[in-house]
Amino acid sequence: MAQNSEFKRTIVTAALPYANGPVHIGHLAGVYVPADIYVRYLRLKKRPVLFIGGSDEHGVPVTIRARKEGITVQDVVDRYHYLIKDSFEKFGISFDIYSRTTSDIHHKFASDFFRKLYDEGKFIEQTSEQFYDEETKEFLTDRNIRGECPRCHALGAYGDQCEKCGATLSPDELINPYNAVNGNPLTKKETTHWYLPLDKDQQWLEKWILEDHQEWRSNVYGQCKSWLDGGLMPRAVTRDLDWGIPVPIEGADGKVLYVWFDAPIGYISNTKELCDAHPELGTWQQWWQDPESRLIHFIGKDNIVFHCIVFPAMLKAHGQYNLPDNVPSNEFLNLEGDKISTSRNWAIWLNEYLVDMPGKQDVLRYVLTANAPETKDNDFTWKDYQARNNNELVAIFGNFVNRAVKLTEKYFDSQVPTCGELTEYDLQTLAEFKKVKHNVESLLEDFKIRDAQKEAMELARIGNKYLAETEPWKLAKTDMDRVATILNLSLQICANLAIAFEPFLPFSAAKLRTMLGIDDFEWDSLGSTDLLEDGHKLGEAQLLFEKIEDADIQPQLDRLARIKAENEKIALAEAEKNWRPAPIADEIPFDDFAKLDLRTATVLNVQPVKKSDKLLQFTLDDGTDQPRTILSGIAQSYPDPSVLIGKQVIFVANFAPKVMRGIPSCGMILSAVNFDGKLHVATLEDKVKNGSKVC
Ligand code: 2FM
Ligand code: ZN
Repeated sequence: MAQNSEFKRTIVTAALPYANGPVHIGHLAGVYVPADIYVRYLRLKKRPVLFIGGSDEHGVPVTIRARKEGITVQDVVDRYHYLIKDSFEKFGISFDIYSRTTSDIHHKFASDFFRKLYDEGKFIEQTSEQFYDEETKEFLTDRNIRGECPRCHALGAYGDQCEKCGATLSPDELINPYNAVNGNPLTKKETTHWYLPLDKDQQWLEKWILEDHQEWRSNVYGQCKSWLDGGLMPRAVTRDLDWGIPVPIEGADGKVLYVWFDAPIGYISNTKELCDAHPELGTWQQWWQDPESRLIHFIGKDNIVFHCIVFPAMLKAHGQYNLPDNVPSNEFLNLEGDKISTSRNWAIWLNEYLVDMPGKQDVLRYVLTANAPETKDNDFTWKDYQARNNNELVAIFGNFVNRAVKLTEKYFDSQVPTCGELTEYDLQTLAEFKKVKHNVESLLEDFKIRDAQKEAMELARIGNKYLAETEPWKLAKTDMDRVATILNLSLQICANLAIAFEPFLPFSAAKLRTMLGIDDFEWDSLGSTDLLEDGHKLGEAQLLFEKIEDADIQPQLDRLARIKAENEKIALAEAEKNWRPAPIADEIPFDDFAKLDLRTATVLNVQPVKKSDKLLQFTLDDGTDQPRTILSGIAQSYPDPSVLIGKQVIFVANFAPKVMRGIPSCGMILSAVNFDGKLHVATLEDKVKNGSKVC
């Protein structure tokens, strides 16, 4: 297998985000920051690389948002495409191109790709029954269909999942399916689609992934293995939808390419758009088809099957493309212990962060990388954000640089002093920091981005410790030669930091280079102690990182608390919608019910009250020494009241006694009124002790 560095070119793609909402920290941590770090590193290594991004503007979610907001789908994708593009730029995600799948170039490219496969008989055509809305005359799939969950019977489950019990569903399983947008009931209608017969790809995919790519991350490899073990099935690559790229076949009106068919082709069409505009970069074919080019996809874990199985099968079917060499996929980032959710607004949106935490893009990049969900889901908390900023960026990195630069200003008028004879301790420090280059590189080559940043941070730790232990400020009165040596070495470490952190913290690294007066730099000079010449004039000292106080993050915590409370309210309302019976009567607070003292008693005797055709006189054993008398107006429902003798009934024990027909009645016996108006005394099937409380 070829080594990474042996390839002539590398094309790096980052998953195209759906243009149906802004991007959040989960996107950044999962895909865009690691991809950007890797690409910046390759550029520093002077290895030809293109970094391809763009918005995924087709599919059902954008159409749902447009309908909800009463605007066109084009309006939706325009709004979010530009918002997302702007956020990425401001976070320093250094795409060579960030385009969109609604571009003409992409439409034509994806359409031609489909047509080639179609003409070569690479698809199978299948007719099946799908859900149909007779009124709107549209076929509906997955998210657009709702109904009762067959498992937990919650109403409003989606065609692909029940949010209540988490069950994965297919629309066919839903009870009483309806159109999610307008509530219309659905019928079934036949429709024809084109399928990629993935079952025929099973064999080569097994060899290519399971044997030839055992170096892929275990989460990626494991997911692929379980798909392959389950046996691949044909997958539809077209949909009945009015938004997307029309299926380029006669008679396929109203059908578009499935979003997951066209989106990955977007990586190629965006490369074409870039290379057409910049011929000096070479041709798009060189980047995608020359066997000396290498393809790397950065994605989130929900995209693994599409990038490792479906897209490679498409590329193979086409016949002229390279397959991905690696697919570094991260797991998910949670937020304060809960899954990030766009629909529940449980996220930190990048466009809002940029406003709330101005100038702190690198802090977020640092924290998200330090905590990257590379091997398992991880959690972002504002407290951890604050702690990593204060204890690592400020206290180690910033503090070291600041002391080195300030001391040089104080003792040497900001000119790099001359390095004298090195002590044993100096040599030991140098030996430690020289390892860093090799370590960072090999970790980045292996896509261990989190560990690579940790290793780069070692430089700052080494420098900080060196200054703390040599204490040049104490030597200033007695041994200026020694101070010069210490500061020279410290400044060389600072210059190393300015290079090593370029991929991770591009804004701070640039600031540091300005501070050190470095215009030009080479990644390969990392580890050198001759980066700054004697007498070189430093720029002005600036603070690299600022302490983050509790008060700075409090508004963020408050915002999340508000959202949590709102979500709980919404969840409660949803639950009530699903579970509450139709209202029968006005509601009362529980305390009103608790005022009633309901008890059990056994009927000892019952007889009609003289001169009353309604009243029966009950004698009850209520568990006390005295029998209790209660009059009840149920005589007409019980022509033979003796049937009640021996039954255990429920009565209200705390009504004030009332005298009727000269007889004191102490309470009320509970009866149910049947639909025909007949009264039935409520009796207990299982006997309990008389006088027991009913609640
Ligand atoms: O999951 C998503 O957000 C998809 N829009 C990713 C597409 S990646 C590629 F295929 F374009
Ligand atoms: Zn359910």
